[in-house]
Amino acid sequence: MVANRRNFIFRVSIVINIAVMLYAAMHLSANTSPMVEWVPVTGDGSERNAELQYLKREITRNDTDRLIEPMIRDFEESTSQKSTSTMPTTNKTASSTVSATDLEKKISAAPPDVDINEMLDIVDENGLSDTTLTRLRSLLACTEKDFLPQTVQRGEFWVLKNYIRADHGTIMCHESITYTTHAGFEFLDNVLPLVERWMAPVSLAIHAPGADVTPTVNSIRYLRDCLGNDLIRQYVTFHIFFSNKHIPSKIPDSDKILSTPYNCTGSPPYVVNSSTTYMKQKNLLYPVNVARNIARDAALTYFILPSDIELYPSPNLVPRFLNMIARNQKPLNSTNPRVFPISIFEVDAKVQVPSTKVELQSMLAKKTAIPFHKFVCPNCHNIPQGVQWMTAPETNQMDVFHVGKRHGKYVHWEPIFIGTHQDPYYDERLSWEGKKDKMTQGYVLCVKDYDFMILNNAFLIHKPGIKHYVKNPKRDVIASRQSSFVMNVIMPELKKLFGTRSGCAL
Ligand SMILES: *[C@@H]1O[C@H](CO)[C@@H](O)[C@H](O)[C@H]1NC(C)=O
Ligand SMILES: *[C@@H]1O[C@H](CO)[C@@H](O)[C@H](O)[C@H]1NC(C)=O
Ligand SMILES: *[C@@H]1O[C@H](CO)[C@@H](O)[C@H](O)[C@H]1NC(C)=O
Ligand SMILES: *[C@@H]1O[C@H](CO)[C@@H](O)[C@H](O)[C@H]1NC(C)=O
Ligand SMILES: *[C@@H]1O[C@H](CO)[C@@H](O)[C@H](O)[C@H]1NC(C)=O
Repeated sequence: MVANRRNFIFRVSIVINIAVMLYAAMHLSANTSPMVEWVPVTGDGSERNAELQYLKREITRNDTDRLIEPMIRDFEESTSQKSTSTMPTTNKTASSTVSATDLEKKISAAPPDVDINEMLDIVDENGLSDTTLTRLRSLLACTEKDFLPQTVQRGEFWVLKNYIRADHGTIMCHESITYTTHAGFEFLDNVLPLVERWMAPVSLAIHAPGADVTPTVNSIRYLRDCLGNDLIRQYVTFHIFFSNKHIPSKIPDSDKILSTPYNCTGSPPYVVNSSTTYMKQKNLLYPVNVARNIARDAALTYFILPSDIELYPSPNLVPRFLNMIARNQKPLNSTNPRVFPISIFEVDAKVQVPSTKVELQSMLAKKTAIPFHKFVCPNCHNIPQGVQWMTAPETNQMDVFHVGKRHGKYVHWEPIFIGTHQDPYYDERLSWEGKKDKMTQGYVLCVKDYDFMILNNAFLIHKPGIKHYVKNPKRDVIASRQSSFVMNVIMPELKKLFGTRSGCAL
């Protein structure tokens, strides 16, 4: 019995050591994306901690060999294939150590001076304890979705949903957050720097009309096979879509793609002159909201972060956010509908992307970082208490910094936020070229009186390079057409469906 146990502990420690070594090796050998020099500024690899924590949780979990054995097998397989696959794919439930009802009873009966972190067993904000996960499961009461490839229609678009799936295996709806995003293939250089910072599932919808499908598929293969880094395979699920007027003449079979390694000799297929794409040649508009909705619908988790692919999140956002949700303290315990906006910044083309708020603040002081779109549209991204946010010191846990509304000065606010599948969708008739494509969603959030719970330490950094306003007469024409469509057609619809509320406008 004792020998058995020692043997078991020994094996576990080997697994942990292998994992750490793989991480170290990956860290040294990882290719950075061709466009962005992304080097972790902290130097201790803290952005990897979340996943390591996650891994340790699985291993040290007080379960029997039933759970541990497959883990070890997974590891033996993955190490023999020189793979750095780390996300556990075991069949897990949230009931391993604590029962949800007991925990709820304990928490609600606790005197107010008891430390909630202790009750939830939160020793590290960058990891999720079993107790925290149990608490999340009962607070969110979400259900799992299926994760199968499917060809589906969406208005005039055909969607290859889950065309290439991430290798993460079963993800339960309460235990992570999905970054949902979209792009044409020429933006896929952003995927690696994004996933290196997010370290959690990404649902990515790619618009690939006509001949664009070939470089799109090649780009996906390049990302998965040629960057010397397994994070994309681990976390990113790719969907492809196109209009029924621009169906590609041949759509590669995804099983064949997965079974044939890509020839990595050439330059990345996503590095192209963007005016040469099929989409640009045919003068197609980018159906940004169709893309957003596809990516969101495919997300397996309760919480989602619908974002633009060039916005890189601050490290450890996922576990820190979920620990905050599990604590469920004021103002989070209200029953109002809410979303969680994240502050956005731009940085100089030549600088390292900041990893902590402290680093961001020093860059703001040196003007190597500025609030998002400061030079493009200074008021569009003003956020309630934005100035206070920038001066407030970083704290050791995630919290709500300020609860704002989309009223008054912020009536046209188009924030990027963590939300859920219950939030209003984006209007699929609007194009990216037509601008203000998120306004109609913002209006509905306002009418439904959403709280905008701005997060204190979290931020998004745009791909390095500060943008300046460039006049584009062709786009202005499309924008003015879209604007009148919104006013004359969409607004009356929204008023009928959702009503009005004083202080809300488009
Ligand atoms: C945890 O481990 C102890 C001792 O190994 C065992 O008695 C107990 O049943 C385990 N608990 C669970 C939930 O597996
Ligand atoms: C998970 O375990 C349950 C019961 O042990 C089993 O019925 C189910 O098929 C398993 N699911 C997966 C995905 O392995
Ligand atoms: C990969 O492509 C290069 C250049 O196109 C070619 O020289 C090489 O033989 C190819 N490698 C394989 C394994 O097919
Ligand atoms: C991209 O291609 C277009 C026409 O095909 C050309 O006019 C333009 O100069 C090219 N841009 C770059 C940066 O090479
Ligand atoms: C939220 O929690 C605070 C204490 O943190 C408590 O005073 C308040 O009554 C709670 N509100 C609701 C709606 O439960």
